[in-house]
Amino acid sequence: MLCALIMAGGKGERFWPLSTDEKPKQFLNLINEDTMIQMTVKRIEKLIPIERIFVVTAKRYVNLVKEQLPYLPEKNIIIEPVGRNTAPCIALSAFYINKIYPDAILAVLPSDHLIKDVETFIRTIDAANKFIEENKDAIVTLGIKPDRPETGYGYIKFKETKTIIDNFEIKEVEKFVEKPDKQTAQNYIDEGTYLWNAGMFIWKATTILKYTYKFLPQTFEVLSEVAATNEEDFEEVLNEKYPTVDNISVDYAIMEKADKIYVIPSDFGWDDVGTWTSLERYREKDEMGNIVKGNVIYVDSSNNTIISNTKKIILLGLKDCIIVENNDVILISSKEKVNQIKDLKYICVGDK
Ligand code: GDD
Ligand code: MG
Repeated sequence: MLCALIMAGGKGERFWPLSTDEKPKQFLNLINEDTMIQMTVKRIEKLIPIERIFVVTAKRYVNLVKEQLPYLPEKNIIIEPVGRNTAPCIALSAFYINKIYPDAILAVLPSDHLIKDVETFIRTIDAANKFIEENKDAIVTLGIKPDRPETGYGYIKFKETKTIIDNFEIKEVEKFVEKPDKQTAQNYIDEGTYLWNAGMFIWKATTILKYTYKFLPQTFEVLSEVAATNEEDFEEVLNEKYPTVDNISVDYAIMEKADKIYVIPSDFGWDDVGTWTSLERYREKDEMGNIVKGNVIYVDSSNNTIISNTKKIILLGLKDCIIVENNDVILISSKEKVNQIKDLKYICVGDK
């Protein structure tokens, strides 16, 4: 039984000051009318009915999820008392969903990516599901052809052995390396046998639990106890126990160590829209190359991204800048330097 698990508990960093700890990227409409999480749900709904779409998020974001996805059944929101990264959030969800659908296959998806060719994406997930139905203890990842030595992604080295389902190649994975340094990433690109990990995993809930038991035994023990708690005491036990689980991503905890990983080389216009400058690929520009949102007046200014939320912004003779106003913070940066914003955020407001 194919279910979707959408992870929506990440904090806002690279799109600060628009994305904040209170309202991270997945809840923003950076690209068009819909927010990133609304786009994610609409996309996967073409394959999986809403009853089998689950969202896992931290308590502080539950109201945003309800507001933005009012048609999602409330019992499909899985709540972490605090964020402990993706490995425990996936394990918590696997316990939860496995109780409802003991043979569940989960398509674990991020909530803050963009996919241009939705039809191909859906067919790819469908092929992965068919593969897992035949190979019950496997993990299918989706691999994107890399075009730069990006250090923010996982890299997947594939073998040539493959199965074909519905015209999709499903290749064996030799190794999975999360976020290598720049030189290593460059070597991988030169070798030509690596793909970027798109951050999506298709596997059985029981496989998730098996690997959690194997690689994160303490987390497994804590979550088993939580899962065995009766409904009445569940929230209290979860609140007390969840903060003690390992704080680690699924990529480091499981993908780097597991066997029977497969990858589908994918080409469906994937983009994790990770930087202010990446918006330029999607938002419409005026004839001077400016992207403008909100109350903005500009003269003799070109190639800027200007976003105002509450104040009027007036620009005169400025080029190649990112200007973002969000209540009490105004960011003014050159495009060249704006990718340092993640580090700067910690200096300016700390890590709450
Ligand atoms: N519920 C929940 N709880 N969700 C979380 C948590 C958490 O504690 N932490 C992160 N998420 C969500 C994010 O909101 C996002 O949708 C997804 O999980 C992935 O987390 P990121 O923090 O964005 O991961 P990443 O971008 O550093 O790396 C992952 O994605 C890359 C592709 O974009 C990895 O899987 C990489 O290997 C991959 O290349
Ligand atoms: Mg990400």
